[in-house]
Order: sequence, then C-alpha cells, then structure tokens
Amino acid sequence: MNRRRVLVTGASAGIGAALARVYAQRGWDLILTARRTPALVALADELMATHGIEAVVIPADLADPQAPAALTAEISRRGLSVDGLVNNAGFSRTEGFLKADPADHAAMIAVMLSAPVALSRMLAPAMVERGYGRILNVASLAGQMPATGGDTLYGPIKSFLIKASQGLHLELAGTGVHVTALCPGYTLTEFHDANGTRQEVSAAYPAWMWQTADHVARVGCDAVEANRPRVTPGVMNNVLAGLAKHLPDAVALRMVGGHARRLKRI
Ligand SMILES: NC(=O)c1ccc[n+]([C@@H]2O[C@H](COP(=O)([O-])OP(=O)(O)OC[C@H]3O[C@@H](n4cnc5c(N)ncnc54)[C@H](OP(=O)(O)O)[C@@H]3O)[C@@H](O)[C@H]2O)c1
Repeated sequence: MNRRRVLVTGASAGIGAALARVYAQRGWDLILTARRTPALVALADELMATHGIEAVVIPADLADPQAPAALTAEISRRGLSVDGLVNNAGFSRTEGFLKADPADHAAMIAVMLSAPVALSRMLAPAMVERGYGRILNVASLAGQMPATGGDTLYGPIKSFLIKASQGLHLELAGTGVHVTALCPGYTLTEFHDANGTRQEVSAAYPAWMWQTADHVARVGCDAVEANRPRVTPGVMNNVLAGLAKHLPDAVALRMVGGHARRLKRI
C-alpha cells in the first residue's frame, strides 16, 4: 500500500509543527505549508532524515483569498494525492475590535475560517472517492466559550470551525473520511509571542494550565483516527468547556468579561 500523505497548514511553528512530527513518526508523508519557508524546509529535512518519509514544502500566505486554490493546484501539478488535511494555521489580535487594523480582521477570517472551508471542499471529494481521509481542524477552547472581549473575532471564528467540523463529520460518516475539531486550551507555542501577550498570559495563568504542543498534537491525531467529532485536550479545559455550556449566558459573560479585564483587553 502507498504511504499516506497529509497537508499541514501552519507547519512552521507550534501545534502545526508538532502535528507534522507526530504524523511523520506514524509513517505519513507530508506537505508542509506556512509563510516562513526556512522553518518549513528545516522541519521537512529533519523529519525526512529521522523518519525516512517524504516531505515537500509549498509556502503560502493563507490570508490571500486565492491561496487555497493556488496551493491545491500546486499539489495537483506535482501529482501528489492528499489523504489527510490539518487546518491549523492561525493567530489572534487582542487590541480590541475598534483598534485592530481591518486588514487583520480580514486576514483572521481568511486564515482560520475561509481557508479551512476552501481546502476541505477542494480535498475531501478525492478522499471520499478513495474511501479514506482524515480532516483535523485546529479550533480552540475559546470556540466553546460564550464570547471573548478584546480578541472579539477569535472565539466566534473558532466556534464556526467547531460547528463546521461537526457538520462535515456527520455528512461524511460511513465514507472512510474522519473529521475532527481539536480544541486546545493554553498551549506553549509562538501564538502568544505573535500577538504580543506572552508576558500577561504567563503572569495570569500558572504553568500547570499550559500544555505542550506535542501533547495537543497527539491528542488531535488520536481523536481524528478514532473519528471523534470534537476533542478538547486536558481535564481542566474540559471542566471549563462544560461549565461554559451549562452556565446562564449572563453569568458566563460576566466571567469572560472579568477574564478580559484581568488581561486588560477591555
Ligand atoms: N497556542 C495556544 O494557546 C492555542 C490555543 C488554542 C488554539 N490554538 C490554535 O492553534 C493553531 C496553531 O497555533 P499555534 O499555537 O501553534 O501558534 P504559532 O506557534 O504562532 O503557529 C501559528 C502557525 O500559523 C501560521 N500562520 C499564521 N498566519 C498565517 C498565514 N497568513 N498564512 C499561512 N500560515 C499562517 C504560522 O506560520 P507563518 O508565520 O510561517 O506563516 C505558524 O506556522 C491556531 O489555529 C491557533 O488558533 C492555539
């Protein structure tokens, strides 16, 4: 049997790089994408040398609405089939809805919402045809919370990704294509350096609340293998998600508002 191949977006750092590592350890070939080509090439070289797999790098800026089509066209041009899709690329802006650059809002929606939808729509039909596929959408615990303040669009975008994953999970049941939303809580990656909140979140949350990217990646890979529609790594994160589900909206919003004020986001 041919080896499986997975496309990982946002593979240049954090959870995406960890997911690429886990898939390589499990014998999958890789297509790695993100904007930072040197980091992708270094990871591809490392994983090919360590695991004897094939890894190709196709850089893309997923904030460009044309990028998903260009990426899949390049994959087809190279004659590569795709058995797995990890929609992981993402970032947040925390300065508040009115202060954020509208271009950043558009980029958040393009990278974390439109690109996963487009890539799934482009790649899933061939998976269904072959009777095998894995689609892992990296959402967030924030998507299970009632709202966020300061990073106002982040939670709703991740909620969308969770619901869209669950819908596709139902739709593709019995086709051999598994679909899972992975909902990490605080994870040690470059995410909070990229949005400039490293100091405040490190001060606000004790070390035990943070998970490693490797742990989150393993939980995600196992969950999509088991065809779970959604997985949230960590007991405390599941407690928080459960609480948010059952609290009345007004109480939940007060709690989330307090959290945003502690972080000086509203
Ligand atoms: N860390 C957390 O606490 C946490 C918690 C819950 C969910 N998440 C989610 O986990 C996913 C991965 O984040 P992370 O924590 O691993 O953060 P990270 O270390 O900052 O990695 C983010 C990845 O996304 C890529 N990316 C960002 N903008 C992009 C763009 N315009 N085009 C293409 N790729 C882009 C980055 O690559 P380039 O910069 O090279 O383009 C990088 O590879 C995100 O969807 C995030 O929302 C993170």
